[in-house]
Amino acid sequence: MADPAGTHTVGLQPLGLRVEIAAGETLMDAARTAGVGLTSVCGARGTCGRCRVVVTAGPTSPEVDADRRAFSQLELDAGHRLACRTVALGDVTVALPRASLLGTQRLQVEPGTGGDHLAPVPAVRALPAPMEPPSLTDQRGDLDRLAAALRTAHGIHAVTAAPAVIGQLAGTARRHDWDIVALVRGRALVGVLPPGGRALGLAVDLGTTKVAGYLIDLATGDELAAAGIMNPQIPYGEDVVSRLAHAARHADGADVLARAIRSGLDDLVGELVGELVAEAGVAREQIAEAVVVANTAMHHLLLGLPTAQLSLSPFVAATSGAVEVPASDLGLTLAPGALTHTPPCVGGFVGADAVAMMLGCDLDTAPGVMIAVDIGTNTEIALRDPSRPGLVSTSCASGPAFEGAHIRDGMRAAAGAVERVRITPDGVQLTVIGGVPPVGICGSGIIDAIAELRRVGALNGRGRFDRSAPGVREGRDGPEYLLTPAAQTGTGQDIVVTQADVNEIQLAKGAVQAAITALLDATGTAPEDVDDVVIAGAFGTFLNLDSALDLGLLPRLPRARYRQVGNAAGTGARSILRSLTERARARRIAAATGYLELTMLPGFQARFARAMALPDPARPAPPARPATTPGA
Ligand code: FES
Repeated sequence: MADPAGTHTVGLQPLGLRVEIAAGETLMDAARTAGVGLTSVCGARGTCGRCRVVVTAGPTSPEVDADRRAFSQLELDAGHRLACRTVALGDVTVALPRASLLGTQRLQVEPGTGGDHLAPVPAVRALPAPMEPPSLTDQRGDLDRLAAALRTAHGIHAVTAAPAVIGQLAGTARRHDWDIVALVRGRALVGVLPPGGRALGLAVDLGTTKVAGYLIDLATGDELAAAGIMNPQIPYGEDVVSRLAHAARHADGADVLARAIRSGLDDLVGELVGELVAEAGVAREQIAEAVVVANTAMHHLLLGLPTAQLSLSPFVAATSGAVEVPASDLGLTLAPGALTHTPPCVGGFVGADAVAMMLGCDLDTAPGVMIAVDIGTNTEIALRDPSRPGLVSTSCASGPAFEGAHIRDGMRAAAGAVERVRITPDGVQLTVIGGVPPVGICGSGIIDAIAELRRVGALNGRGRFDRSAPGVREGRDGPEYLLTPAAQTGTGQDIVVTQADVNEIQLAKGAVQAAITALLDATGTAPEDVDDVVIAGAFGTFLNLDSALDLGLLPRLPRARYRQVGNAAGTGARSILRSLTERARARRIAAATGYLELTMLPGFQARFARAMALPDPARPAPPARPATTPGA
């Protein structure tokens, strides 16, 4: 029943959730209230068509143009709507298709390369500090007493502490008979622990889409736990541009985004600690420092720095230096005096995550010519030629297509996503994440599919379908290729590659390809002189290199020169946490890295247009037949 006070109940199926929303709120608001992430690329402006739901009962606002663009009349009649455009007019029940749910995604938290061998040089040390108990003849304060213990045992003078740390000291010292462990950063006391307590650190790779966290023993450098979450800001826009627009458009937009990521990070800490608490007695107050690497927009939103200038030429950061703020200011419950360190960035488009990526794959010390590429919604590319001073970086907006967005049946790399496609004379062979019936196609799958369609001649060099090729049919919006018929999918609907999908991928791959070739040209580097190409990041980890080379996304070099290294930014973040030496190295990398602004390069637009072409197939095309066989 609708409440006379103006609230409605929205049931969310198949999750079995029911939430109350105020009159006038949308179904997207209902999902947010329930803590359910719906896909959104446009920041709920009705333009991306990703927040698809089905209204199965109850009155809603009538369909609008955005709905009509997203759905056929048949689908509209069946209750299909965009959640961000649909207002509940009473109690309603809504079905959430799996492809619309952010759901559980393959979150990259596994180690990348290097860094784990480093000798620890942590910023915070855990120092045993047995204190003299007070007496009527020794009435020094608790902190003075601890300062004396640290001076005697460790030669540390003039210890300072914030009131919250002094409060913790008072209780802990008395509970443990004045025998404590002090967490000391320089001369600052950041926390105290019971005897035997060890100092831990938190390293975070804060991405636009995914957030990876690692818990490190600061004394040994050992990684104790790793966990990942989706960035809770996603409902406000899937890419950096939409989030910055949300911050600019709403009076409390930046605050809302800051609160979302801060509470997400605190939840991530809870998850990491929860993994260990039973076996090792780990507690949040042992975490004495956090290091967070992020792109410049995510960094500014987390820290509450101004973001308006990031969207306006010349796109400068509010600060490009390293920043240290109390972790408690960011809503993180760690040791009471713990700081959060964010390393320096190169500029508005090349953030501390790129600096960490360069450090994580040892770009600055590579013996030969090396390129590091982190492909994502925003792609960062850095090059080092040891015969010249410094490093050069650039970035391009490659859009969220590689995350499966803007693709008709696109989805993120989660269970049910097609991640590999092979077109053979016997039919289409698919590899599906989780080995379940397919429900959509993720970035690596769509790259594979388009490379295969080009190889078998179903697509020409301009990315146009050959309407007479086997498997190509006339769809609702033009020619499309049937990957899996409805009877074999988990959604009961065909999974197809449309002409618009091909165009989206051409735009994304053209942006990356043009950026790489422009960087090579601008630095006078012949592609064949590149000794080592490092592909970093989640998308790059699962990318089929052969398909990427066939499409021209990456320069055609011998396969042996390519390395897919995993989350190098996460590796860099952990190194920066483990070692002050690496922290100083990150500063040197940021200072030594120049930025190449692609849009300023003469002829860049023409280069970009050329890069959208699909090259001639590298291998002879076998005859293709459209029969479909879902694989494991
Ligand atoms: Fe609804 Fe983009 S259309 S979130």
